[in-house]
Amino acid sequence: MTINQDILNYDELKDYLNTEFIGRNIIHFDELNSTNTYAKSIASDLDKEGQVVITEKQLSGRGRLGRQWVSQNNKGIWMSIILKPQINIADISKITQVAAAAINLGLSSHSVKTEIKWPNDIILNNKKICGILVEMNSEKNISTDISEAVKINYVVVGIGINVNNDIEDFPKELRETATSIKIETNKEFKRNTLVAEVLNNFEKLYIALKNNNFSKSLDICRKNSYVIGKEINLIKNQEVKEATALNINDEGELVVMYKDGKVDNIISGEISVRIRKNK
Ligand code: BTN
Repeated sequence: MTINQDILNYDELKDYLNTEFIGRNIIHFDELNSTNTYAKSIASDLDKEGQVVITEKQLSGRGRLGRQWVSQNNKGIWMSIILKPQINIADISKITQVAAAAINLGLSSHSVKTEIKWPNDIILNNKKICGILVEMNSEKNISTDISEAVKINYVVVGIGINVNNDIEDFPKELRETATSIKIETNKEFKRNTLVAEVLNNFEKLYIALKNNNFSKSLDICRKNSYVIGKEINLIKNQEVKEATALNINDEGELVVMYKDGKVDNIISGEISVRIRKNK
């Protein structure tokens, strides 16, 4: 049996897992449209956070900005983590950086050195091996006094990692920009181990975030940034703005300088980042 036929399962995974609550409950499917869509359908009924939904194949995996995520094979990690964070709504976007840092750390413990392309891509040898899709459900709580607060019902952190995919698994038009760990390293990896490593790191960094300590994740995102110091295009609704990426600020926003010298802080929202020049 080659490694890419390994089945993701809790029994094997738990030997590598050292978490308290993340991934202590895993629902595994052979096939699902999208783990994020499924996770969202069950999240409201769960009392606790930490449940993980994982599948061998996705029939209609989703990416950011309405894009498709190619995941019709059992060679990658397609999973979603359900969270119920009682944090300020403004801090929700930091969860993407927490996940990016956790993936970077998890892979580096297998000597796979990746870079983080703010806000949600993981890059290996200048190509994308992983994407993160964070989705949230919240409601406005109008209390009896005039104050208004937003209640976060749940957050779903979708993680797609191309692990043992072969080049033929990617559509031709993606082959210039997407890759897998196997293609880049010539090695196959046990997905169970990688899932556990990512979840172990995610829990530590997520607990820190809930305790108002975002600096560890931020540090990892800055040190391993694929974007800082580069000339980029910021694309929003077909509009392209040229800028230089200067830093990621303490809020997890991308600090950029436009050609006219104006400095701006970018929140991830609807923005897509393209590297223009690798300095
Ligand atoms: C992106 O790069 O735009 C984000 C890709 C996120 C893909 C993962 S795979 C598991 C989860 N389920 C989905 O449908 N999408 C995310």
